[in-house]
Amino acid sequence: MNNWIKMMALSVIAFTVVGCSKPADEGMSSAVVNTAQANNLPSTKQFPADPDLKALYTQSCYSCHAMGTGGAPRTGSAKDWQPRFEQGINTLLDHTIQGFKGMPPLGMCMDCGEEEFLALIEFMGGSAATAGE
Ligand code: HEC
Repeated sequence: MNNWIKMMALSVIAFTVVGCSKPADEGMSSAVVNTAQANNLPSTKQFPADPDLKALYTQSCYSCHAMGTGGAPRTGSAKDWQPRFEQGINTLLDHTIQGFKGMPPLGMCMDCGEEEFLALIEFMGGSAATAGE
């Protein structure tokens, strides 16, 4: 008799555990959606692979260059960046440091040096940056 009660209790526990296992599936499907988005990234979802550069980019260039605010050439858009790169990388670096029309001096990145600016310009230029070399 005692054993029979134990069996009943165990089967109730087993039933409860099975009943709760559903929500785990939802986590899976959102991971799949993120992978699908990665294949066609809008410029607001593109960030430098290097974590330090990503931090600088997020604090400064991103606010204008991700969406093209004020006519800024958009991150990853070869069409936007092609005519810019035709001026040569030195001019782009000068314009970043001195400012250029709607582009504020230093791109509002007080912690960036020449090396970081060059890496950020090349990152934002996407395929236009590599084509110009
Ligand atoms: C406050 C907004 C803003 C921020 C922040 C900003 N930019 Fe810009 N940037 C612009 C705009 C607007 C232009 C387009 C200027 C024009 O040609 O009218 C531009 C243009 C440029 C150009 C092209 C200049 C040329 O000669 O054609 C480069 C290079 C550039 N930005 C680099 C950067 C970098 C690197 C950062 C971050 C460190 C940055 N920008 C941050 C607004 C911004």
